[in-house]
Amino acid sequence: MVVSLPKVVVTRRLPGVSLPSLAKLAAVAAPPPDSPMPRDELLRQVPGAAGILCTLADRIDSSLMDAAGPGLKAVSNYGVGVNNIDVAEAGRRAIRVCNTPDVLTQATSDLGFALLLAAARRLSEAERVLRAGKFTGWEPWGFLGVPVYGGTLGIVGMGKIGSAIAARATGFGMRVLYHNRRPLSPDRERALRAEYRGLDDLLAVSDFVVLCVPLTPETRRLMNAERLGRMKPTAVLVNVSRGEVVDEGALAKALSEGRIFAAGIDVYEKEPAVHPDLMAAPKAVLLPHVGSATGETRERMGRLATENLLAVLAGTEPPCAVN
Ligand code: 8YV
Repeated sequence: MVVSLPKVVVTRRLPGVSLPSLAKLAAVAAPPPDSPMPRDELLRQVPGAAGILCTLADRIDSSLMDAAGPGLKAVSNYGVGVNNIDVAEAGRRAIRVCNTPDVLTQATSDLGFALLLAAARRLSEAERVLRAGKFTGWEPWGFLGVPVYGGTLGIVGMGKIGSAIAARATGFGMRVLYHNRRPLSPDRERALRAEYRGLDDLLAVSDFVVLCVPLTPETRRLMNAERLGRMKPTAVLVNVSRGEVVDEGALAKALSEGRIFAAGIDVYEKEPAVHPDLMAAPKAVLLPHVGSATGETRERMGRLATENLLAVLAGTEPPCAVN
């Protein structure tokens, strides 16, 4: 008897996703491309698929699930944020949605802290001047930043990444405040030396506000003009979550009017586009969504995304399911 392998669609060539290993247990629809798969190509590939291994660039919504048909069992996301997937709709159709938490916590937290330091000390701005051949010697008033050591860090979204950033703050002698849907247990708060605050209170007293929330209807544009206006004029905003959590235009305006000191941003509202006013803001450190970008982390993400996919297809519990 010939048993046919379940069809899977892999939307992009990805570190840690081994096609030869996958091919032993599943029939990969087509060799994945080196750039994001165009929507029409994805719609062409998914009919009859039992699994999709995707990235944040792929919108997995009801029309895509319709195109795949009733055989679709697994959507395995290469990444922890699943805002690109209609998880509720997947649930209604008994499709398991999986992601890759934990393996990227430390890399993303390192990057969050790097952005905090870079924005506070104006590293990008200073390097731009040097590379433009405009370094004319030590300047007593050149590139004055704000102190990191001893500052107050306000973490919005105290999940795994937020907590790992809080742990890093200890070495910088920082006081850590946090806001979260649910406060942490007293033990956890003690371990992280973190104090719970209402969002408005946190924004008003923090020297550094770091956004680590998932993108949900509640967190979309959480940092709008009004909330940015609550921050101190000497404060720094860091975003390593999703671009849509910040109103980019309002942020650019707050920076240009000196209502906050600086920003460190890794994610954007309409990636890969960046708001032109933000591009023009000298004190914004802007990175191209590299939070999880270490070789080891990306390999582990790929292995976990593959494991998740194959587990669902085999009818077993995947290591990291969202629903
Ligand atoms: C991923 C991320 O690299 O995990 C996430 O949510 O934002 C990134 O670290 C990206 O999602 C790739 O799909």
